[in-house]
Amino acid sequence: MGHEIIQGSLEDIEEIVKVNQKIFSGMYESEPYSLEQYNSKLENKKPIIYIAKIENEIIGNSIAFQKDNSLYLWILGVSKDHRNKKIASQLFDSFEESARNLGLTATTKTYPVSPEMLGLLKKRGYELIKTDDNGAMHFKLEF
Ligand SMILES: CC(C)(COP(=O)(O)OP(=O)(O)OC[C@H]1O[C@@H](n2cnc3c(N)ncnc32)[C@H](O)[C@@H]1OP(=O)(O)O)[C@@H](O)C(=O)NCCC(=O)NCCS
Repeated sequence: MGHEIIQGSLEDIEEIVKVNQKIFSGMYESEPYSLEQYNSKLENKKPIIYIAKIENEIIGNSIAFQKDNSLYLWILGVSKDHRNKKIASQLFDSFEESARNLGLTATTKTYPVSPEMLGLLKKRGYELIKTDDNGAMHFKLEF
């Protein structure tokens, strides 16, 4: 069964959080964000959300919002069972198209714990801007 990429909204956050708690479980020292943390992070922002779905099940998602002159990709995740099928690449395509349409650059931040994400960013031409003391790597793509 194939998947589709659709635009999501804040109404999808509760389901997205459930999926992301599985995706991000054990990745970082701290626990994956709770619904309250998503809500407080996204409060007063107009997030641009894309969802990958198979029938009614969310299997991937991206959440971005404007930060200075960029569209900042805050979250990107694909469920384990559905990786390496270009789903993240398609979510990136949608995110970058939104940034381009808004006249913004695309930015994101990631950590060395995700070689998959680093590989994807490199392949898509993102430039490493800086690395924080805690290892957080900031990337930018200009159009
Ligand atoms: C990162 C993630 C979203 C990628 O999802 P995906 O749908 O499997 O990715 P795609 O199939 O679109 O892209 C595959 C590309 O990723 C890169 N990649 C995948 N696995 C990799 C690995 N082990 N090492 C290096 N690069 C890798 C390659 O560039 C690959 O391209 P290729 O297929 O041409 O070789 C997914 O692994 C994930 O959700 N991981 C856990 C959460 C996470 O790390 N999020 C990002 C940090 S915020």
